Amino acid sequence: MATPVDIAPARGKLGVLLVGLGAVSTTTIAGVMAIRKGFAKPIGSLTQMGTIRLGKRTDNRSPGIREFVPLAELNDIVFGGWDIFNDNCYEAAKHAGVLEEKLLDQIKDELAAITPMPAVFDRHYVKRLDGPNLKKGKNKKDLADQLVADIRAFKKTHHCDRMVVIWAGSTEIFTTEAPCHKSLAALEQGLVENDPAIASSMIYAYAAISEGIPYANAAPNLSAEVPALQELAAKTGAPVCGNDMKTGQTLIKTIVAPGLKARMIGVSGWYSTNILGNRDGEVLDDPESFKTKEESKKSALDYIFQPHIYPDLYKDISHVVRINYYPPRGDNKEGWDNIDIFGWLGYPMQLKINFLCRDSILAAPIVLDVALFLDLAKRAGMKGIQEWLSFYFKAPMHAPEIYPEHDLFIQLMKLKNTLRYLKGEELITHLGREYYD
Ligand SMILES: NC(=O)c1ccc[n+]([C@@H]2O[C@H](COP(=O)([O-])OP(=O)(O)OC[C@H]3O[C@@H](n4cnc5c(N)ncnc54)[C@H](O)[C@@H]3O)[C@@H](O)[C@H]2O)c1
Repeated sequence: MATPVDIAPARGKLGVLLVGLGAVSTTTIAGVMAIRKGFAKPIGSLTQMGTIRLGKRTDNRSPGIREFVPLAELNDIVFGGWDIFNDNCYEAAKHAGVLEEKLLDQIKDELAAITPMPAVFDRHYVKRLDGPNLKKGKNKKDLADQLVADIRAFKKTHHCDRMVVIWAGSTEIFTTEAPCHKSLAALEQGLVENDPAIASSMIYAYAAISEGIPYANAAPNLSAEVPALQELAAKTGAPVCGNDMKTGQTLIKTIVAPGLKARMIGVSGWYSTNILGNRDGEVLDDPESFKTKEESKKSALDYIFQPHIYPDLYKDISHVVRINYYPPRGDNKEGWDNIDIFGWLGYPMQLKINFLCRDSILAAPIVLDVALFLDLAKRAGMKGIQEWLSFYFKAPMHAPEIYPEHDLFIQLMKLKNTLRYLKGEELITHLGREYYD
């Protein structure tokens, strides 16, 4: 056995602050409350339901992940957050329309007790929204300082031992790296000078990371991956991950595409379209926010198929992604994929996928897992980009010199091997020769 990494115990309360108390956040919070009370099971959560094989297949050692590594208990999580609307979590969950009122009513008091702190928000970055619960500040640095004060006050009031911050706010407009993102000094100057390249989400990221608090970006907009925030994370020891949770259509894409590639089946086109009627869908109806999402959704196939290595199979894939805002469906998204594939001697075939999914039902366990694993990473002294959490994201953060890993199965192996490494267990390579020698 290798030497295990020193991991501080998960003692005391874990404060989980969510930016944006919308459909995803309230489904996560209400879900954890319902599970704590024994009304429901944490389906979809790897930390709560997953197991991990240790040693040889003949050893029969497969403990639950949460028994294997020291994770915070669900009973020790305290939720809070910010939003531009004043609705408490009970009202917001009702508005989101994901969970049934019957379930929400059983946890009404606990949910209603979570009220949003005033948000840092600028309509420039999310055109379709406007709300009353906003902070005022003389510049972006001042707003960041107010967020830091919120985090510290929450930690104190709720007697939290540790904190995690997750951006689950609306998708902001598409932006690319600007000069103020290049170094911490430039970012801090940009905050004081109100540089327009610093979106609201980045102010939250800056506030959390400057406190050494783990930070995740559940949305696709540019965030903690910029060099300035990486420099800050290295300095304060904050682990970070993102971007854009892998749910719905992209989840299915990263399950199906590695299978086609494994069998060397060619793909000439992949047309994805879906209808969505929640507030997220409304925000994504704005072309500038959609562009952010489109970029995030489109990158996965390119990386999985590696057309530069397999030009005969994947060189000219026509990949189209559409999201249509269609209010009657609410959070219950319907996605259609038409995949034009070809096999032996180039003979064409087609594959059609019709996925009737529930967006926030797929997203909530990711938020929970990411919060718990980021807290573990922090206690294990891991800082900066946590590539082993790529499993959860559509556009995983990665070191600048490498390409991101999108194949869900490689991502899962990476995640589990990281846990084995932390505990000093042998990594599993699936070589398996020892059974036959
Ligand atoms: N549901 C999914 O499956 C899924 C998957 C991947 C990514 N996402 C992303 O997660 C995010 C949240 O999704 P959702 O369905 O909960 O959306 P939502 O519209 O229901 O909730 C977003 C909330 O964020 C708030 N908000 C916006 N800007 C804010 C700011 N600057 N500060 C504080 N609050 C702010 C909004 O008022 C809203 O209540 C979106 O960016 C979405 O694209 C969702």
